[in-house]
Amino acid sequence: MAPSISREKLASLTENNADRILPIIRSFERKDQSACQNIFKDGYQEFIKSITVTYLSLLVRYIVMAAMFPILAAVIWSAWIFAVFVVMACMVLAFIGIYLQLTGWLYINHTLKSGDLKDIEESYMSIQQSHLWVAELNGRVVGMVGLIHEENFEQGVYELKRMYVVPNCRKKGIARNLINELISHAKTNRIKLVILKTTSTVVPAIQLYMKNGFTFSSAGLNGKLTDVPVINKRSLPQDIHLKLDISSLAAP
Ligand SMILES: CC(C)(COP(=O)(O)OP(=O)(O)OC[C@H]1O[C@@H](n2cnc3c(N)ncnc32)[C@H](O)[C@@H]1OP(=O)(O)O)[C@@H](O)C(=O)NCCC(=O)NCCS
Repeated sequence: MAPSISREKLASLTENNADRILPIIRSFERKDQSACQNIFKDGYQEFIKSITVTYLSLLVRYIVMAAMFPILAAVIWSAWIFAVFVVMACMVLAFIGIYLQLTGWLYINHTLKSGDLKDIEESYMSIQQSHLWVAELNGRVVGMVGLIHEENFEQGVYELKRMYVVPNCRKKGIARNLINELISHAKTNRIKLVILKTTSTVVPAIQLYMKNGFTFSSAGLNGKLTDVPVINKRSLPQDIHLKLDISSLAAP
C-alpha cells in the first residue's frame, strides 16, 4: 500500500520545491477571497514589523548619541538624571512601537472591512479593465497582484496594488510572472499608465518594479509633486511613486 501524505504536508513539500514546479497565474475567483485576505494580512504585518524595526533602530542610534549629556550630568550632579533619561527613552520607544503597530492594524482592518479587499470580486473584477490575479501552487493561492482604476484617476490610468508572495515561495519568479500578466492585460486593454506607491525600505519590491520597466514618478497618486527618493533600508521610510508608461511599450 502506498504511504499516505496529508494535504498540508504535500502543500509544504510542493512549496519548498516551487523552483521546480511552476505556479499557475490566473484571474481571481470568488473562492480565493479569504486566501487573498490572509496573504494581504500576513504581508502587511511583515511590512509593519520591518518599518517598526527601521524606526526603532534609528531612534536607538539617536538616543545613544544623546546619552552623553545625561551621563555627563549624572557624573556632575546625580545618577538620577541618567535613570530618568533611560526611563524616558524607553517610554518614547514603546510609544512609537505601539503607535506603528496600531496604525498598521487599523489599516489592515480598514482594508479588509471596508476597503478594496472587502469584496475583491466587486472591487477588481466587476469594474471595466480593473483586475486581480493570483498565483496558485498545488491548489493553494501563494501570491497576488491587482490593477485598479480609482475615481480620482485620469482616464487610462490604473494603480498596481496588493503585490504579495508568501515568504516560502519568494525568489522563484512568481511576482515577475504576476507582473507580466498584468502588463499584458494593460497592453491588450489599451491602458495608458500604471502607477503605484510603495515605501523606500521595501527594497525587493522596488527592485522588482524597476526590473520590469517602472521608473520613478515625480507625481504621487493624488497628482502632488514628490521629492527624489532615497532607497535605503536604514534611512527613514518615505513614500516612493513609480510609473510604467504602457503606451510606450511594444504591442502584445
Ligand atoms: C516583493 C515580492 C512581491 C517579490 O516576489 P518574488 O516572487 O520573490 O519576486 P521574483 O522571484 O519574481 O523576483 C523578481 C525580481 O524582483 C527582485 N527581487 C525579488 N526579491 C528580492 C530580494 N529579496 N532582494 C532584491 N531584489 C529582489 C529582483 O529584481 C528579482 O529579479 P531577479 O530574480 O532576476 O533578480 C515579495 O518579496 C513580497 O511579497 N514581499 C513582501 C510584500 C511586498 O513588499 N509587496 C510589495 C508592496 S509595494
